[in-house]
Amino acid sequence: MEMNGHQSTIDIAGPVALEQRKIFYLTCVVTLVIFVLVGSTLAYTTIKFRARKGEEVRGDLPEQSHGNPFVEMSLIGASIAALVVIAVPTLKGIWYDYDVPAANRANAFYVTATGAQWWFKFEYPKEQIPGFGPLTTANELVIPAGRPIHIDLRSFDVMHSFWVPQLAGKVDMIPNRANFLWLEAAHPGYYWGQCAEFCGASHALMRFRVIALDQKDFYQWLDNHMGPARNVPVPATAAAERPRARFASYQKFRPNQFGFTPGDELDVSPLDAWRAKQFPEKDEDPVLIARGRELFRTKTCFTCHVVRGQQIGGSPAYPDLTHVGARTTIAGGLLENNAAELRRWIDNPSLVKPGNMMWEKGYIPNHIHLTSGDETALVAYLQSLK
Ligand code: CUA
Repeated sequence: MEMNGHQSTIDIAGPVALEQRKIFYLTCVVTLVIFVLVGSTLAYTTIKFRARKGEEVRGDLPEQSHGNPFVEMSLIGASIAALVVIAVPTLKGIWYDYDVPAANRANAFYVTATGAQWWFKFEYPKEQIPGFGPLTTANELVIPAGRPIHIDLRSFDVMHSFWVPQLAGKVDMIPNRANFLWLEAAHPGYYWGQCAEFCGASHALMRFRVIALDQKDFYQWLDNHMGPARNVPVPATAAAERPRARFASYQKFRPNQFGFTPGDELDVSPLDAWRAKQFPEKDEDPVLIARGRELFRTKTCFTCHVVRGQQIGGSPAYPDLTHVGARTTIAGGLLENNAAELRRWIDNPSLVKPGNMMWEKGYIPNHIHLTSGDETALVAYLQSLK
């Protein structure tokens, strides 16, 4: 039997998931014992007291044993015992999942996860960017492996639930209520997560990822993401034609900072695929990117989406796109982040994720129409934001 799917609670990768699996196994054992006892009693009586061939079929009831105090008290006692055997470790497990064990709390890393219809926002409250606030990202939570992560769970709108089966979960994200849990990835890896509480039309399409990196890679990622969006300069000749599209160079991107080469597809080697996304795309066209940057403004994308250091505007209630090109997924962890899927998403978001806010509050009221050329330029621009 295959037990190692992307969202397996059996093939686990951290201490919280291990604790949860222990409770699952214990419950399985207790219920298996009950099943065997009840099933064998039923089978025994069915066979022993069956109507035999040639036996006269009697219309009257056999002798009744109702009201035997010994049997009844024993059954009540056994039920209570089974309940206690399950309940005590379950309660201990719930308390354990709640927060990082006190002995390890000084080593904890803090993250805030906020659910929204239908995506996840992740903030790093201790990583403050001057003049902006905490480092903010969407749908892909990057954490240091081997360190306990304390996660504050919040919601923008309705109830959601935070669940990374291989690491921890499920804990609800409730509006106006502070919930939290902790998790730890034992080793670097790429983990699938999703919303586990029905939250509207596209609930099943509300997903996210957790990417755990070793300390060195993590701090390189953090360092890069604390910086503003990567700016691809416009070539001199093109700049002369489009003076408005020229922006200051905010940041020097350091290719090869992770010291590896781009790897396989997402499913085959997801962590390598994630690493590959940290590099600029191979076929980058600076002129196209400059046009996309301009379209991001003229099509009013900037009013909702933050692109730090490059676009003036954005709202904390919508996904921050400062480094969107460095993510493996888009659209709430639903689609792979590549040119074809990005185009499909921005062409008509409602066909991908029915009822989503980008469509309802952006495209419809602002009458946003994108030509094929617009889409190509916007895709190039978004992919350049590493
Ligand atoms: Cu959010 Cu289901």
